[in-house]
Amino acid sequence: MPLMVWTQSLSVGVAQFDNEHKKLITLINDLFDAIQSGRGRQMLGSVLDELIEYTQTHFAHEEYQLKVLGFPGYEAHKREHEALGKKVLEIQRKYHGGATATLSMELMSFLKTWLVDHIQGVDALYVAFVKERGLH
Ligand SMILES: [Fe+2]
Repeated sequence: MPLMVWTQSLSVGVAQFDNEHKKLITLINDLFDAIQSGRGRQMLGSVLDELIEYTQTHFAHEEYQLKVLGFPGYEAHKREHEALGKKVLEIQRKYHGGATATLSMELMSFLKTWLVDHIQGVDALYVAFVKERGLH
């Protein structure tokens, strides 16, 4: 059973961002599998690195579009991304520093909850705006 499943309730109506959110969900599921199956530290570390890198790529894509389109909530949205970015980099730093315990189920539920809350709470705020400007 995957930890997360993308459903229409997570759609932001922009194909590129939906696809990127799906990829994030896949990476969170991969991390979950790696933890559950007790795979090695190195494996966990590389999945975590990939998830963090892809998160930054996705945030950059969203921020670029919101900026180009002149979305009024751009700054606030960017700050939300930065807050998560800081948190996950802290987790990554601790992990590579040897604190295996930080990569726990607690982290997984944090990532899952954060992603769902962000998509449905914060990303949802740009949906109507970007659609009106032809992004879909
Ligand atoms: Fe976002």
